[in-house]
Amino acid sequence: MRTKQNFDKNWKYIIDEVGPLPKTYAKSGIVAGISNAVDGELFEPFAGAGNMLRALQDILPAGDDAKGDVDAADMLMGNLPEKAKSTKNWKNVDLPHDFRVEIGVQDNATNWAQGYIPDGIAYYRKAFKIPKSTLGKRVVLEFDGVMRNASFWYNGCFIGDHYSGYTGFQFDVTELTKYGDDEGDNVILVRCDTTNGSEGWWYEGGGIYRHTWLTIYENVHVDRWGVFVKPTVTGKDAVLDIETTVCNETFEKKNYRVCTTVLDPSGQEIGQAECTGTLPVYGKDTQKSKLAVKDAQLWDCENPYMYKAITEVFEDDRLVDNYETPFGIRSIAYTDEGLLLNGQKTPLYGTCFHQDFVGVGAGIPDAIQNYKIKKIREVGFNAFRSSHNPATLELLDACDHYGVLVINENRIIEATKHRMEDLEELIKSSRNHPCVFAWSMSNEEIFAGSYQALRILDKMIPFAKSLDDSRLFLSAEAFLSGEMAARYGLEIYDIFGMNYAESALNNNQIKNLSENYPDMKFLSTESASWYTTRGIYEDNKERGHCSSYGTRYVMMGGEGGPNAGGTARPWQTWNFYKENPRTGGFFIWTGFDYRGEPTPLKQYQVCSNFGIMDTCGFPKDDCFYYEARMKETPLIHIMPHWTWEKEGEIKTIRLYTNCEEAELFLNGKSLDRKALEEDWIQFEVPYHLGELKAVGYKNGEIIAEDIQKTAGEPAAIRMEADRSSIQGDGMDVSCVKVSVVDKNGIFVPNAENNITFEVTGAGHLLGLGNGDPGCRENDKASSRHAFSGLVLALIQSNEDSGEIRVKASSEGLETCELILKAE
Ligand code: GAL
Repeated sequence: MRTKQNFDKNWKYIIDEVGPLPKTYAKSGIVAGISNAVDGELFEPFAGAGNMLRALQDILPAGDDAKGDVDAADMLMGNLPEKAKSTKNWKNVDLPHDFRVEIGVQDNATNWAQGYIPDGIAYYRKAFKIPKSTLGKRVVLEFDGVMRNASFWYNGCFIGDHYSGYTGFQFDVTELTKYGDDEGDNVILVRCDTTNGSEGWWYEGGGIYRHTWLTIYENVHVDRWGVFVKPTVTGKDAVLDIETTVCNETFEKKNYRVCTTVLDPSGQEIGQAECTGTLPVYGKDTQKSKLAVKDAQLWDCENPYMYKAITEVFEDDRLVDNYETPFGIRSIAYTDEGLLLNGQKTPLYGTCFHQDFVGVGAGIPDAIQNYKIKKIREVGFNAFRSSHNPATLELLDACDHYGVLVINENRIIEATKHRMEDLEELIKSSRNHPCVFAWSMSNEEIFAGSYQALRILDKMIPFAKSLDDSRLFLSAEAFLSGEMAARYGLEIYDIFGMNYAESALNNNQIKNLSENYPDMKFLSTESASWYTTRGIYEDNKERGHCSSYGTRYVMMGGEGGPNAGGTARPWQTWNFYKENPRTGGFFIWTGFDYRGEPTPLKQYQVCSNFGIMDTCGFPKDDCFYYEARMKETPLIHIMPHWTWEKEGEIKTIRLYTNCEEAELFLNGKSLDRKALEEDWIQFEVPYHLGELKAVGYKNGEIIAEDIQKTAGEPAAIRMEADRSSIQGDGMDVSCVKVSVVDKNGIFVPNAENNITFEVTGAGHLLGLGNGDPGCRENDKASSRHAFSGLVLALIQSNEDSGEIRVKASSEGLETCELILKAE
């Protein structure tokens, strides 16, 4: 039977080139130094048949006098560099891990696209035991994503390379494995190298930044991603087409039977399907079965119901494998009015974002994947484009769970062997997630539309469709127009995906295309690219800050007029969709700020500030604009804060609201009442300290309110956890919002106090951030300056239950203590 254990704990790593390590040797690799057992780990290459090799290791390096011996040893051991003979300088680490975020921003780094965080080489290594009882089963090491150009050695043997940082893969190491203490420890060694070419123009991280698994199954087993449950919905019922691929890793032909049991969202069994087949010697076989589901509970954005398929494989009558596949039942179609989800028109209110977060970089724990998706869902977004790479599987789990529709994107179109394998992995690993409604083959490939691109797509798309033909195919294009756009939209893909359709750049493109090609369908795959800095209301070039009213800095750092910056404004994006509903919705660039691609002030920023939330997930004012448009819940938001220096200075007060009218009060006195006629309601108000209050009306009734109060000097710290109780598993994380307040507890919106954290008990500080795109402080330090009054502290549990005590202190401020629970 199958077991799949998380393999993330107890690794060691070093940020250094300890090699080069050979990938070929004169004798079998079982003696290849650090990629085998070292430093007291159990090393028994011949299982008790002698210590000749250990002795050889001990005499190295033998020095000039013993040249002959050294040559002999080198011949066997691959002439290892000195650094590759010991792990004494390596540090302990649990995955997921991004080693580059630890290096942090470096002043001399030239790589601005990667946020001035240098590229690097790191080695990861783990020694572990496999019990004798596993003998006879398959031992498989699975990696969900390693950044990048990774090479792998196992028990001294070089076992392979994996180039892309965005796709998963596995190694079957059954025969190379040592079983039981008498055979010794097993060692997996991984070299990650980001110095040899990026895959993106954003910060990509480095290291084993997604999960790893130790999977053990029998010689007859379900193939990697070998189950596909494809629902077809008719009225209230559905039919599941279940495809199962089984492998045989023996030299005998085998007969097998597959029994699939389907459980409904409450865990009740709703039926079984069976199929049988014959497996060739060392080969695979795929069989199909069907199951009818009466009164199916359909997955949608409001009720994201999940079913589960349990696959049991029998070799003759012996149960040999069991495999679980969560899936959802829903239908998707695309029309002139955009997406139909279960037959219902569903505008796609989407965000794009990269895999980065404060405190952790690309090595994002599952709790933070959840935090990010929950944040965008709470403000009314229902879609996400995994730009520009296949999403981490736990991020898709979060989208399944919160009802967020996903465009899952392939990194690059190249019909090469390894890119075809990447495409296969993208589709097979995520085709059971109901959240995925479309596959994007690429983003803004500059050679799109060329003959070469057409030939490449001619190979990639039929191949991808052979793996899943139940979703929409598209790409996100920016440079295609006229006939070639029509060819993409009508012949190659189901939809023409267009980036920045609403911008001046693409003025009238959709109109022209739809007039000339009435059958063409469109989706706005990327929009806005509007940059603002949270809590900032005036540009500050040297600090890398862009005004929330709109900056005068244009895309590549030049200066335009007031509010010039960005490709399109949020209201332009929203209004364009309303005027052109056949564009299906929008995917704003971006949901969160991210490291790298510092735009527009690249000399002064280390992060982008395209997000409607900053790098911590704290909302900017724009976020309330979108929320007010997308949600019906009454909302009124005052921009800016009300803590200024100059009494009497005229301030522009902008209200983002979905109310019909709003009235503004200063210290209890009504200033004015206005109707919402365009994108917001605006007032010019002379500043007087005190309380600024906005109330929103519908049919003359007050339905919403917002208040901004003038803050005094910073006096204390407040902390608020997104989850006060977390799993004591050494993996779970609570995201703690840390605010600076005055002596009356009023939030100080411009506070920049340096806050130091001390975490004791059953947890530790995982990392810090403040959302400032210009901040060069290291996320792994124990203190952080507040930015616009806030810091985010990530607190991770240890492998233990009990209290986690978080203490935040800063000179001159009252200390704050927060107690979380690890269970
Ligand atoms: C788009 C691109 C994104 C990002 C964005 C910045 O064209 O697809 O990756 O670079 O521009 O505005």
